[in-house]
Amino acid sequence: MLARSQDALRELAREIAEAGGEGLALAADVRSEDQVQAAIETTVERFGSLKLVVANAGLGRYALVENQPAEHVETTIQTNYVGMTRLVRLALPHLLAAAPGHIVGVTSSAGLIPHRMASAYCASKAACNAYLAALRLEVVARGVGVSWVCPGLVETPFIEKAELEPARDLPFLARKLVRPLTGEEVARAVLSAVRGNKSEVVMPPMMRFFAWTRRLTPRMADWLNRTTG
Ligand SMILES: NC(=O)c1ccc[n+]([C@@H]2O[C@H](COP(=O)([O-])OP(=O)(O)OC[C@H]3O[C@@H](n4cnc5c(N)ncnc54)[C@H](OP(=O)(O)O)[C@@H]3O)[C@@H](O)[C@H]2O)c1
Repeated sequence: MLARSQDALRELAREIAEAGGEGLALAADVRSEDQVQAAIETTVERFGSLKLVVANAGLGRYALVENQPAEHVETTIQTNYVGMTRLVRLALPHLLAAAPGHIVGVTSSAGLIPHRMASAYCASKAACNAYLAALRLEVVARGVGVSWVCPGLVETPFIEKAELEPARDLPFLARKLVRPLTGEEVARAVLSAVRGNKSEVVMPPMMRFFAWTRRLTPRMADWLNRTTG
């Protein structure tokens, strides 16, 4: 388990130990090549191999483009996209060596359905989806599955850190028709993606419906999004 701050990870490691497993809390910033490399090496030394990577680190920055500080785009792309590709790229040789294995990216429905106030975030997640789809073509026949799980709103500290007000900042249709998910539901979807070797997973079902609508009639989806806000 990898993050910059350690308190929550150590607590989780304790819970895993109590449940009979073994969790290893490692401090690393996904924006640092050296730190991610060191974390992967420590993990492989400790457990002998690497079979599953869940690339989950991410953040959101919400503002209209005209009000967006340069830092929004920089931090969002460096963390969500470059950070994810770094973890995946550095872990891949270990996964191929120990195949069968699996990579899951926790991306977002925002990568499929762009929405206002979240241009950098939507772009970062669309890039993750495309990267993982291309990677799947390269490695799935060599025994490494690749999935990208695209949730709608999830009830986590992400919302406060992003200074996001779901009742105001999210598109009208999303806030009226799409129920927020729990972290546990997303975790179960990750497991199901690995077990079923699924490619793209969009959740909840209403968000899947919106994603398909956008693919089938992009002009209509755009019009709906603009006119309902
Ligand atoms: N919550 C939502 O509504 C929602 C919806 C769709 C998709 N997602 C995606 O789900 C993923 C998890 O988000 P969450 O909702 O669980 O948010 P969260 O509660 O804020 O958790 C984000 C996690 O990422 C870690 N992280 C952030 N920047 C990092 C960095 N530079 N290096 C290493 N770790 C870093 C954080 O730990 P540290 O800060 O300690 O490093 C934290 O553990 C993200 O990719 C997010 O984009 C969230």
